[in-house]
Amino acid sequence: MASTISAVGGEAAALLASLHAAAFPPAERWGPQAIELMLGLPGHFALVAAEAGSPLGFAMGRVAADQAEVLTLAVHPGARRTGVGLALMAALAGEATNRGAVELFLEVAETNAAARALYGRLGAAAAGRRRAYYPDGADALVLRLTLTRPGAKQDG
Ligand SMILES: CC(C)(COP(=O)(O)OP(=O)(O)OC[C@H]1O[C@@H](n2cnc3c(N)ncnc32)[C@H](O)[C@@H]1OP(=O)(O)O)[C@@H](O)C(=O)NCCC(=O)NCCS
Repeated sequence: MASTISAVGGEAAALLASLHAAAFPPAERWGPQAIELMLGLPGHFALVAAEAGSPLGFAMGRVAADQAEVLTLAVHPGARRTGVGLALMAALAGEATNRGAVELFLEVAETNAAARALYGRLGAAAAGRRRAYYPDGADALVLRLTLTRPGAKQDG
């Protein structure tokens, strides 16, 4: 899909909250105030994917020193399986690299087959487990992705 990806700030909190509400169950939704607050914190950023002006999903991340973390990834149910999630993750990894990160951590419910498959496609590797982390009792898997600058030499 020919979607565009743009960086947004706290002014887009209402839009991001509506995309989050469309993508997550009620117990896991983030409200606009929480999103605006997070985007005001150092190192935090959000990227929105849109097609012909219509928002399809977003990703939020943060970078501290040389480590980055995916805070959330949400694609509208009507836009799934068209590559939006992968495009957002590629853009987030690029932004994190530009901000100086060399590794990216992700947290995903063990039961979230779609997200696990997507992160697997990116080459994310298991880094830990947080037991009964989610409201439904599911474990969280912590995954790690090595970030490489375009053109940089790989180890080994
Ligand atoms: C997970 C999520 C972001 C995926 O977004 P998406 O735009 O549908 O993902 P993509 O189209 O880029 O999929 C890329 C690849 O990931 C894998 N994948 C994505 N959804 C999948 C599913 N439901 N089942 C199996 N594999 C899946 C596939 O390998 C897919 O490639 P393919 O379509 O060529 O087979 C989306 O399902 C979503 O918003 N879910 C609810 C919120 C959520 O769980 N966020 C992640 C929290 S950690």
